[in-house]
Amino acid sequence: MREYNVRGGCNSSNAALIWEEAAPGVWRSCIGSPEGVTPLTLIGAEPDKAALERLEPISPPLRWSDITLEEGGRNNDKLLVLPLDGKEKLYGTGLQMLRSNQRGRTRYLRVNSDPKQDTGETHAPVPYFVSDKGYSVLVDTSSIVTMHLGSTLRAADTDAVWIRDRNLDPEWKATIPSPRVEIKLPREGAFVYLFGGPTLRDTVARYNLYCGGGALPPKWGLGFWHRVPTLYNAEEALREALEYRERGVPCDVIGLEPGWHSRSYPVTCEWDGERFPDPQLFVRRMGEAGFRVNLWEHPYVSPSSGMYAKLLPLSGSHTVWGGIVPDYALPEAREVYKEQHLREHVSLGVAGYKLDECDGSELTNNAWMFPSHARFPSGLDGESMRQLYGLMFQKMTYDLYRGENRRTYGLVRASGAGASSMPYVLYSDLYDHKQFIRAISNASYCGLLWTPEVRKARNAEDWVRRMQTVCFSPLAMLNAWGDGTKPWSFPEVAEVVRHYIQLRMRLLPYLYSAFAEYREKGLPPIRAMSFELSPAQLADIEARSAAGEHEASVDTLDTVAGAYGKRKALEWDDQYMYGNDMVVAPLVEGETERDVLLPEGVWYGLESGIRHIGGGIVRVVPGIERIPVFVREGAVIPMMPPLPHVPANGAKTELHLFHFGEVPGMCMLYDDDGETFDYEHGGDGNWWRASVELDKTGKLRGRLEGEGELPPSYSSVVWHLRQTSLLEHTE
Ligand code: GAL
Repeated sequence: MREYNVRGGCNSSNAALIWEEAAPGVWRSCIGSPEGVTPLTLIGAEPDKAALERLEPISPPLRWSDITLEEGGRNNDKLLVLPLDGKEKLYGTGLQMLRSNQRGRTRYLRVNSDPKQDTGETHAPVPYFVSDKGYSVLVDTSSIVTMHLGSTLRAADTDAVWIRDRNLDPEWKATIPSPRVEIKLPREGAFVYLFGGPTLRDTVARYNLYCGGGALPPKWGLGFWHRVPTLYNAEEALREALEYRERGVPCDVIGLEPGWHSRSYPVTCEWDGERFPDPQLFVRRMGEAGFRVNLWEHPYVSPSSGMYAKLLPLSGSHTVWGGIVPDYALPEAREVYKEQHLREHVSLGVAGYKLDECDGSELTNNAWMFPSHARFPSGLDGESMRQLYGLMFQKMTYDLYRGENRRTYGLVRASGAGASSMPYVLYSDLYDHKQFIRAISNASYCGLLWTPEVRKARNAEDWVRRMQTVCFSPLAMLNAWGDGTKPWSFPEVAEVVRHYIQLRMRLLPYLYSAFAEYREKGLPPIRAMSFELSPAQLADIEARSAAGEHEASVDTLDTVAGAYGKRKALEWDDQYMYGNDMVVAPLVEGETERDVLLPEGVWYGLESGIRHIGGGIVRVVPGIERIPVFVREGAVIPMMPPLPHVPANGAKTELHLFHFGEVPGMCMLYDDDGETFDYEHGGDGNWWRASVELDKTGKLRGRLEGEGELPPSYSSVVWHLRQTSLLEHTE
């Protein structure tokens, strides 16, 4: 057993936690003997201290004496205990699909590909919670952590008013508010981090910046993606791709599923000679038609792979589907993977990977994974390896491309803490559209990206609703691996689907700028409503709405006055912020109308042109041809034409700047070559300021300012001032 996973002791004791300021507004305490390999050390991203320093200086958000370390349980487990306010809400803990406010819940944070029950298990558990009071707490560990987020009551704090007679009292409740968080730490110890705010938005930004800043995908990654059916050969894949061009539906990435490997389940990572006789030619022909190629793989290596003999001594004690489980905590195992992937894929022009099945399942009919007692040569056990496996693959493949000065964007089915800078998007075999929408919002609390990918649908309405949602997500993808679907599979809505895929392309400059803000400021590009509204604002809106003081729009085109009775407090996790200036409120099959909470200010329906007064709740009845999207008055939205695919590095297109409403406003537009890391060393990565101001005669005028006349990707700029919608400009 080689001791790569060595532990170092440290000085916090049960009596006193010692906190040091690890970066501006970020405090760290070392408890016990933390593991050598943790999510943060594995990703190894340098905290962006310069960006953290630019945030307002802040003092610790909690009193140190209020945070205690205790012992409890059969193994004298270490418990970290923090106080909670009565109304405090707690978000985060990873890619939670079943609820967003985790207050009152016990979260068992284990990687699991079938998170069907609300236990905390998920594809991407993150032992990190975010309080709406504007602070957050992370435990950096490879072990499974249990967080009791206000779900435990001690003898001293059990308030008599909560003790009710269930026989007769309808107010009896199973879950009673608790005034504390109790976190069961790994027995050996861990590093614990406390991130200051002062707001929820700031504390999450601090977390992301501490983890190296958000990921900036290549521009092509933000175009539309299509994954072809399993066992497709090169000709079939190419034909399917070209159909997008013939039908005028933009597409940038073609994903290959099982079938490109010479064997799969377990995989060889080598091309199948019959289905792909000339992989280099295949990737080149795809490239000539404007498509990037993404390859599916999973971790388990087949005995018939050329990597097998080299990886066997560097693998774990157990296998999955007969494939060995390489220990990528070992540098020599990473070297084998890297050499093979560079030679067989990356050097041919393959643009990235879909890293599947690094999560594991215990479903009765479909269980697979190495056990937690598996042993690995680095010293990691099966529990830690499972918790870390998704992160390891992200890091290895990211480094492959970084070494080539090429950006990648890919998919992964397991993740964890510290992943903010990884250009990977989570997905799932689960397929509940409402949960998929909630996951868009919840991923934003934890440095994660998520795609509500589309595979199949019960009917045209289900299809179009899912397609609308995915076009307003971090990765817009049709995954046809098992169903052979295409965007036009439901002819009755094919035009609507095409329209939204085109709109995705047109909004690329806006979305790309939002991602650049994620990288530089840590602010997630697509985020939950609580990033935009303080708890007090939310409570005020809810109260006014309950009192009937909501917007009573007279325009019935897409808004009707709703009938609001007493409403339950909602989390508003079925809608989200898309960049700085848009609210997206998807509908699912069977819904014909919905409530939308609009933050303060005036908002326009992006495609309805209807003007809404924000700071309240509006009811919309959009019809299946429209997803409700709202734009802030004064916003300047940078857009481009609906090209068949994102222009390659060096090619130029028109920049359209849409300004909404009657008031001045501005946006910051980011541009660079879209493909390399040159922006890190004085390349052409720059911000432009697009503003609309009143001139001396009282007229609104648009102005684009920055280095050089125009951002490098654009040949000309067209202003559209005082717009109320994109309706007249539908291409
Ligand atoms: C699943 C994955 C699907 C598809 C399939 C291929 O695990 O979630 O998207 O790739 O494997 O076998």
